[in-house]
Amino acid sequence: MKAIILSGGKGTRLRPLTYSGAKQLVPVANKPVLFYCIENIVEAGIKDVGIIISPETGQEIKDTVGDGGRWGIDIKYITQDVPGGLAHAIKIAHDFLADSPFVMYLGDNLIGAGIDKFVDEFQKNRPDALILLKEVEDPRQFGVAEVSSDGKVIRLIEKPEAPPSNLALVGIYLFSPEIHNAIERIRPSRRGELEITDAIQELIQMGSNVESFVLDMWWLDTGKKDDLLTANAIVLDDRLKGNISGTVDNSSRILGRVAVGKGSVIKDSTIRGPVVIGDNTVIENSFIGPHTSIGSYVKIIKSSVEHSVIMNESELRDIERLEESLVGRRVRIIENRKTHKALRLMLGDDSVVEV
Ligand code: DAU
Repeated sequence: MKAIILSGGKGTRLRPLTYSGAKQLVPVANKPVLFYCIENIVEAGIKDVGIIISPETGQEIKDTVGDGGRWGIDIKYITQDVPGGLAHAIKIAHDFLADSPFVMYLGDNLIGAGIDKFVDEFQKNRPDALILLKEVEDPRQFGVAEVSSDGKVIRLIEKPEAPPSNLALVGIYLFSPEIHNAIERIRPSRRGELEITDAIQELIQMGSNVESFVLDMWWLDTGKKDDLLTANAIVLDDRLKGNISGTVDNSSRILGRVAVGKGSVIKDSTIRGPVVIGDNTVIENSFIGPHTSIGSYVKIIKSSVEHSVIMNESELRDIERLEESLVGRRVRIIENRKTHKALRLMLGDDSVVEV
């Protein structure tokens, strides 16, 4: 069994962060989303992994992930020149996959547990595809499945205006090599992509065996700000272990599960977990509230932050209350309205500021 992880694409819904970085590397609880995908694949016993990268963000992904040695696996990189769709990604990975069955994992998808169970099930039953589904409130933004009362997949459609069910396709799929034949038979969709949804639909029409499994654990597609903050909160709740490696002075209070990295300094502050703080960060005269992840080399001075993700090397000063915010790298947010009641901003394209 092999695996491919899709880490190309444009990341339009996380702009402006994705102008300068890959969306699959945005941190959840201070770890890139992509690492959660790799760990799930490794835990399922798969050692041959191909990562699909784009020419724009591929190098950053290679530099961050490496050759797989740290997980004891072998990672190969496959460059997709244009984001031609999920089925197009399989097409260009055909040489790497050869005639092996494989897992396709979308590099921005996070689920609440491992994938071992699905890999075992797939290896036991040997269907041509095993797809994972999840009931969602608004299925229009996903691939949607119509399933018969006995659990057979009847039809799949990508982002339908009138969804036939509330069962969304989760971005983790298991395939036999038969999927390559189905991909050869499909045409690009209206949005110009070779859709995996169409390829699976083609498998159904070819009479192949397509099985489905409805997830009862949480699933999040982290490609949007609110989903990313929700993922961050859930992962901190579920998995964070309290651990203080940095220094906390006597006038600070640490409540609940809090992890503070090496070289970080907490002074005159209250941290109410679950909170993770990276290395060499300074928190002074501040309150850090639950469900917050703060990266490394960050400065938070006389501020209050809650339910947010603050990435490396950013600085917050005199900010009375920051909530539900996603702050990229090297950002400075400084209150300067004591004497002059005006906002002074320098924001990248597509920034969103609510004042
Ligand atoms: O998250 C689940 C959904 O993922 C499914 O319900 C949909 O059926 C499926 O089409 C997909 O929809 P998205 O619109 O969310 O896909 P997105 O464009 O965000 O791409 C998913 C991942 O694959 C992302 O990490 C980028 C990568 N990708 C995407 C494309 C189109 C590639 O590597 N190459 C590509 O050509």
